[in-house]
Amino acid sequence: MLNVKNNVFWVGKVDWELRRFHGDEYSTHRGSSYNSFLIKEEKTVLIDTVWKPFAGEFVQNLKNEIDLQEIDYIVVNHGEVDHSGALPELMAQIPDTPIICTQNAVQSLQGQFHQDWNFQTVKTGEKLDLGNGKELIFLEMRLLHWPDSMACYLTGDEILFSNDAFGQHYASEKLYNDQVDQCELMAEAIKYYANILAPFSPLVEKKIKEILALELPVDIIAPSHGIIWRDNPLQIVEKYRGWAASYMENQVVLLYDTMWEGTRIMAENIARGIGASNPEIEVKLLNTARTDKNDVLTEAFRSRAILLGSPTVNRSILMSLAAIIDGMEALRFKGKKAASFGCYGWSGEAVGKLNEMANRAGLELIDDGLRCRWRPDQKEIEDCIKFGEKIGKSLK
Ligand code: FEO
Repeated sequence: MLNVKNNVFWVGKVDWELRRFHGDEYSTHRGSSYNSFLIKEEKTVLIDTVWKPFAGEFVQNLKNEIDLQEIDYIVVNHGEVDHSGALPELMAQIPDTPIICTQNAVQSLQGQFHQDWNFQTVKTGEKLDLGNGKELIFLEMRLLHWPDSMACYLTGDEILFSNDAFGQHYASEKLYNDQVDQCELMAEAIKYYANILAPFSPLVEKKIKEILALELPVDIIAPSHGIIWRDNPLQIVEKYRGWAASYMENQVVLLYDTMWEGTRIMAENIARGIGASNPEIEVKLLNTARTDKNDVLTEAFRSRAILLGSPTVNRSILMSLAAIIDGMEALRFKGKKAASFGCYGWSGEAVGKLNEMANRAGLELIDDGLRCRWRPDQKEIEDCIKFGEKIGKSLK
């Protein structure tokens, strides 16, 4: 049990070994944590639990600190199992303890655990008196990122328990943002936003305005994954505002896959052309078959323009590109420009197909694309450089 502030304690689990999350959908190169908090005022409140594999350890650790019967309320900010997974083991020992959550969370918890626990539903603005002059104020966070999501704010200590929002999949033996490597922290925070929260960007902007309008002083933002923001906690809120508003850096990324090197040679020479014509812009090349898909999507999220390259195969494109473009469509990136390229030997449909998929993903095509038959010769290499120069100039 680690002290967060006054009578608030961290009782979660740091998962250093985690490398895949949401099944195999999200890579966690730096592990993660499942943050659970215990508030010990006149009333004792547990906020969220941990993922099921750690349920036994979690409940035993709690028992080492308090008599479980002392827990007056359990707040479930979100029903997804990385936070609710230890509930069955805990509730087996304190079955009548009220579980405070949104109405949607009742559906989620009953659907997953098939238990008729003592649910007490709350809506935005409702409060729970903890004694000692402190209250928990509940804030529905509908669709950030599930329909059941909620946050709660502890008056007096001025702590916002934000659940998934403002989190990072980042394991650390430290608790706070000022104690960790800032580059690693922000890399994990933007990856988390790009891959999990980006589809809900319009709601993020709206929700941040709603929270700021409440004029609640915020000393600490305590998400349910990763480190806790205590040094300038609103810095992550400001980052979210930026990320939610058609975010882009001065970067272009070439996402390509290749069979016999032709499309890779095209990518490298297009990149040369971009760099020569626009020295200010960052240019990155990522082979989508060989790069972690969440890292690819994060780099795409950071970019002003996304160039898509694939050879033609079976009148279509290579599968790794198809998966990434489908991912971008689902994540609903906004304001990105795009162009396509690719080699072919016979029928040559790839560029047309890439254009069609880019359109569907909401990318703005700035060129019809560049095709090259067989392996590029010197003239075609020059054509790639010129194509890159044209793209680079258009991004000035
Ligand atoms: Fe961390 Fe949506 O669960």
